[in-house]
Amino acid sequence: SATPVKVAVTGAAGQIGYSLLFRIAAGDLLGPDTPVQLRLLEITPALKALEGVVMELDDCAFPLLDSVEIGDDANTIFDGANLALLVGARPRTKGMERGDLLEANGAIFTAQGKALNDHAADDIRIGVTGNPANTNALIAKTNAPDIPAERFSALTRLDHNRAISQLAAKTGAKVTDITKMTIWGNHSATQYPDIFHAEIAGRNAAEVVNDQAWIADDFIPTVAKRGAAIIEARGASSAASAASATIDAARDWLRGSAEGDWVSMAVSSDGSYGVPEGLISSFPVITKNGDWEIVQGLDIDDFSRAKIDASVAELAEERDAVTKLGLI
Ligand code: NAI
Repeated sequence: SATPVKVAVTGAAGQIGYSLLFRIAAGDLLGPDTPVQLRLLEITPALKALEGVVMELDDCAFPLLDSVEIGDDANTIFDGANLALLVGARPRTKGMERGDLLEANGAIFTAQGKALNDHAADDIRIGVTGNPANTNALIAKTNAPDIPAERFSALTRLDHNRAISQLAAKTGAKVTDITKMTIWGNHSATQYPDIFHAEIAGRNAAEVVNDQAWIADDFIPTVAKRGAAIIEARGASSAASAASATIDAARDWLRGSAEGDWVSMAVSSDGSYGVPEGLISSFPVITKNGDWEIVQGLDIDDFSRAKIDASVAELAEERDAVTKLGLI
């Protein structure tokens, strides 16, 4: 049988973890033929709760779950990891300024970047879900100089999936008919969900919609503010959908995006589409065997250009803020 893959998950006792771990153990990430060894990192006070989650994982008797290891030391948990899903982060609490949030998360992602650098397997891939995801990925990447920059990504797949769902609802199409959706920029309210290159059963989505006001005043803000709408309705932030998107993103990265389609992923910019090199910004990408390639040659009109530039400017500001804090 296949060699087990070591998947590290941080923040494993959190809300997203409670959905994510069970999906991974069920085979949704690596497929039905590959056993998984889970390596779960938490902060010390959350280890007891994590033990409870592991009891539940045991109780599922998942055929593909080879082993589970838990701990509060990143150096041990990341040892030999092939994939690290960095979900755990410091949430913004009352009275916390943006700078405080960047600083608290900076400390976490500096330490985790170093631990990955020193202990992960040579084929490590790292996906950051914990917010601010793009900048957290930038901090981890900068603190892991021996790991190629292409191995780091931040999650914009939830935004991508939300955009597909909204477009399907508007047009009556099935989600499976919608391809080539793109999220550009930051996983934040400035993100730009772009349907000008998307297709619905092979037809250009913007032409099918034929309603620029809907795109500008309804679709884009609905996708960008969906996280807040979930909090408002559910009284807690999106968790199962975030876990599902974390799986979609990692699965496609390792096993390939669908033929004739692409996915959105925040990756280290090579300067494509005028995004400054090294920023972790969302692009349309094609993935295969653990590698990604930015889709080239898309026409960007003035409307899209302004939206992309605004989100990228925010990423540059976040980078400057963490540079000032000495985190990168
Ligand atoms: P949560 O607060 O329920 O769980 C976070 C867990 O991380 C906690 O159990 C906490 O103890 C742990 N943690 C904190 N610092 C840690 C460290 N240094 N090492 C290991 N574990 C640590 O939060 P939830 O709902 O699971 O969300 C996790 C993160 O994902 C948040 O930052 C949230 O904003 C982000 N998120 C990102 C989305 C995206 O699309 N990129 C979507 C939804 C959430």
